[in-house]
Amino acid sequence: MKEEPPYSFPAGFLWGAGTSAFQVEGGTAEAGRGLSVWDTFAATEGKIHSGHTAEVACDHFHRNEADFDLIAQIGLPSYRFSVSWPRVMPDGRTREPRGLAFYDRLVDALLARDIKPSLTLYHWDLPQAIEDEGGWPARDTAFRFAEYSSVVQEALGDRVGHWTTVNEPFCAAFLGYGNGVHAPGITDEMRALQAAHHLMLGHGMAMQALRAGARNGQEFGLALNFAPALADADEHPHLEARRKFDGLHNRFFLDAALGRGYPVDVLDDTRRLGWTSVIREGDLDIIAQPMDWLGVNYYAPARVTPLNDLEALSNCGLPGLRGLDVLPPRGPLTSFGWEQAPDVLTDLLLWLRDHTGGLPLIVLENGAAFEDEVDPGGRVRDNERERYIHEHLHAVLTAIKAGADVRGYVLWSLLDNFEWSLGFSQRFGLIHVDFADGLDRTVKDSAYYYARVIGANALPV
Ligand code: FCB
Repeated sequence: MKEEPPYSFPAGFLWGAGTSAFQVEGGTAEAGRGLSVWDTFAATEGKIHSGHTAEVACDHFHRNEADFDLIAQIGLPSYRFSVSWPRVMPDGRTREPRGLAFYDRLVDALLARDIKPSLTLYHWDLPQAIEDEGGWPARDTAFRFAEYSSVVQEALGDRVGHWTTVNEPFCAAFLGYGNGVHAPGITDEMRALQAAHHLMLGHGMAMQALRAGARNGQEFGLALNFAPALADADEHPHLEARRKFDGLHNRFFLDAALGRGYPVDVLDDTRRLGWTSVIREGDLDIIAQPMDWLGVNYYAPARVTPLNDLEALSNCGLPGLRGLDVLPPRGPLTSFGWEQAPDVLTDLLLWLRDHTGGLPLIVLENGAAFEDEVDPGGRVRDNERERYIHEHLHAVLTAIKAGADVRGYVLWSLLDNFEWSLGFSQRFGLIHVDFADGLDRTVKDSAYYYARVIGANALPV
């Protein structure tokens, strides 16, 4: 039998691009939608770059059919989107039929164009009403999330096969409740850790609910963000800084989901904060639900150093990270200031192959922001993104050849969108959106490059 060329991806590889509800939809006051913590946060002075808000965003709420025409025209086989909890349950508890009908139509519009839907249940837009009752630091929120998951499963499970429970619990917990850079903007290390546990409990309970209502062929997983930690030296304080950072960023959520409980070293680093009393008997078993795959979100590594290094940036107020700091990234950088390090993606996937015992992996987010402009001829020549995609896909292939079971790659993002606290200042899209004038869409050059790779299921040699 002829051997596959070394630059091909496995058969059945999942290809696509993603967005999330709050970042693209707009229509925040339409069809009975309730407020989310991000509406409140964005309306608070000083929280978002240039005071941007997401009331309109990309207006995907109204323009989704035209956006799906573009997906079909480019040739992307799948689209990852998230459901807005306050759109389908404005107070977090009561169904809003008009909100459910919106996603019903959205899924049908994708299927009509032969685009496979990949649905994320929680991409950070917690109903404000649930935050007012205590938010993720409160145990009850996990139960509400599981109920919401059942409601969405009941409505869309007959047509959506690919489900992610929670996107990046690290950000929801530690940026939302730890350093306060994300909604709801709370700075309290103990509550951040409580939130982390309840997000994982919510994930486990949602997995149970989804499986209980599962239709044939449905797959369920969790999306974690990884920031591999790089140390400058092999000496104890540097290795210790790396261990601490790695524990909180890369092992904390993963080990719990894999059924190993929270890593002992992270428990030791954070015990003094008195958060562990929220872990009740049986919780860790609920969290440890078998997953069909792990969603791997990767953007950049972090260069860690012991505290007192004069060059260092702040430690960002994350729990348990006292005594270490993060150094400035080294070039080449994206416009976000993130380091471009494709080799680190290969290492990460191989580490996950070993650490998870061979669990299937899907790169659910990877991408880059650059200062893209539409030229007078109407083209966006985003060669840097093209190179970024190429290098990272090459990194994925290298990991696959070395035995990592990677089943897909979903680029962040389909559209330029509302980049959380950075507002519209960071363009991650395959499609340019003109936020200054009319929200016109322009397909960028990188989208056509990406489509060629997908069409061939291989990197060009
Ligand atoms: C990830 C988020 C996603 C987007 C990218 C750039 O952490 O999941 O919504 O903001 O970063």
